[in-house]
Amino acid sequence: TSGGSDAAKRRAGESAAAAVDDGEVVGLGTGSTAAHAIRRLGDRVDAGLEVRGVPTSFASRELAADRGIPLLDLDEAVGPDAPGVDLAIDGADQVAVGRGGEPTAGPLIKGGGAAHAREKLVDAAADRLLVVADPSKEAPVLDRPVPVESLPAGRTAVAEAVRTAGGEPTLRRAECKDGPVVTDNGNLVLDCAFGEIAEPSALAATLSATPGVVEHGLFVDLADEVHVGTESGVRVLTR
Ligand code: A5P
Repeated sequence: TSGGSDAAKRRAGESAAAAVDDGEVVGLGTGSTAAHAIRRLGDRVDAGLEVRGVPTSFASRELAADRGIPLLDLDEAVGPDAPGVDLAIDGADQVAVGRGGEPTAGPLIKGGGAAHAREKLVDAAADRLLVVADPSKEAPVLDRPVPVESLPAGRTAVAEAVRTAGGEPTLRRAECKDGPVVTDNGNLVLDCAFGEIAEPSALAATLSATPGVVEHGLFVDLADEVHVGTESGVRVLTR
């Protein structure tokens, strides 16, 4: 859903797919960069790798099934006697890498594809989250609008709470139909501009505490590694 070159996204996706070990349960993220990881994982399954994927969206399920990756629902992957999720590979719309010093894997903004609620469920369930990105996603501090998934009946109340928290909400509208984007969960998305987000964990807590908010796109303390594909290779950022 954004800027960088397809070659850079492919390098990032393939780098993360190479980190998957035999027997693992892998969260399968959403977006064009994660799709490269899913395709490469499919190639590795063809070559004999035994993994099971946990999709984060309709789109990632469809692609993974098409590529022959055996699938589990999150409900089958976690819980008593379940295998758990070893790692998740997911894209991002923005990655805070810090200002000055060595870039690090900081907080993320996700939800450009409106999949952030299920992405967060799967990414948080995983022992490790590998984010795949291109350099256009890196920023010193998060400043993109934060996608907020709202119950349809709560959209005006949620918009008011966002304004009170200093944000400017915009209902996301569909490109191929007259009307709003409806998520895989049947909800609406408000893209909420807060300017520079100096305290992502405080804003995340405020949004999470708002009635009607199903999930928001701030992912704090979740990314263990960010694989940044470039024109010539891959940089791996850690916490
Ligand atoms: C989906 O809701 C997002 O969180 C995606 O992970 C994000 O939009 C990344 O997509 P691209 O890799 O296509 O930029």
